[in-house]
Amino acid sequence: MQQTEQQRLLLPHIARMEGYIPGEQPKDRTFVKLNTNENPYPPSPLVLDRLKEAVDGELRRYPDADASEVSRQLSALFSLPMDQILIGNGSDELLNTVMRCCVGPGDRVVYPTPTYPYYTKLIKLQNATAFTVDFDDEFSLPRQIAAAEGKLTLVANPNSPSGTLVSTDELADLAGAVPGILLIDEAYVDFSDGGCLQLVEHHPNLIVVRTMSKSFSLAGMRIGFCFASPEITAGMRKVIDHYNVGSLAQIAAVAALEDVRTMRANAERIRATRTRLTEALGELGFYVWDSAANFVLARVPDGKTAAPLYAQLRDRGVLVRYFADPRLADCLRISVGTDEETDLLLTELGTALRAG
Ligand SMILES: Cc1ncc(COP(=O)(O)O)c(C=O)c1O
Repeated sequence: MQQTEQQRLLLPHIARMEGYIPGEQPKDRTFVKLNTNENPYPPSPLVLDRLKEAVDGELRRYPDADASEVSRQLSALFSLPMDQILIGNGSDELLNTVMRCCVGPGDRVVYPTPTYPYYTKLIKLQNATAFTVDFDDEFSLPRQIAAAEGKLTLVANPNSPSGTLVSTDELADLAGAVPGILLIDEAYVDFSDGGCLQLVEHHPNLIVVRTMSKSFSLAGMRIGFCFASPEITAGMRKVIDHYNVGSLAQIAAVAALEDVRTMRANAERIRATRTRLTEALGELGFYVWDSAANFVLARVPDGKTAAPLYAQLRDRGVLVRYFADPRLADCLRISVGTDEETDLLLTELGTALRAG
């Protein structure tokens, strides 16, 4: 492809790469929005109280560069020392920081696919090499991952878009087998019975990344956190932007962690609705993978196609996720909404199926 003068000013690998397309956030119309795995319930009321108090006093000053109060809360909650914790502007920033710390041009980054597409963008930014292994139809962890000798190995667990969970034992074995870093992205772990935090102590090459965007209902605040050995977090601190987490985000995070019960209660409600949604989709003829997240991946009934179903739902004001990836061409990913939103989705889906 012909490059313009201005494109030639960019690094060649940046000029060549395609941009990341985030999930749709339409502002022109009100949708029942089940496309980006947001939480349908509000965060802890403590978050709003603290934010209202803070808006008057805090904004003119820089935030705490170490987000120490957030780290302190996490340290108490998860019984890990503060020097093994790092706070990010969303977990995306932490993924980015790990890449910049550990992966150089030409280095191999290994991960099973389909998974979170942002990994691909980060690898391209580093001019590194993606080594992907396809999941099987049940989304079990592919054996080849361990033997692929990645400088960095990535596993989203629960995985997106499948919602499936790999056991902690399997990931412990993987951490012991890979020559480089194993990053486990636990964005959705609070909706599951899994979790690999206890492995951090025993595996100095392990990084566990979590977010407050999903279970804590704080996607708009952009707060993520990760746990790793003190040496790895120290390296990441050198790379990450200083003042990366704004004052209001820190205040919201502390309040939400002080009231972790609200998060757990919301996660329980979402799990109950997920069970109901899974069963109802099954009755409509969909195949639904066993989900440990706040969304489900559903394969459309035989003889139906996913793209027109997605479009019909959209026309009727219900937004779900359809992926261009050919391996997912017959699937829809549906976030778990409130019970009312779920009922509406099921009604519209039934109507769309009958309409053909
Ligand atoms: C697997 C996975 N990891 C990380 C993220 C990023 O979350 P955050 O909002 O913390 O940047 C997402 C967001 O959808 C995700 O699906």
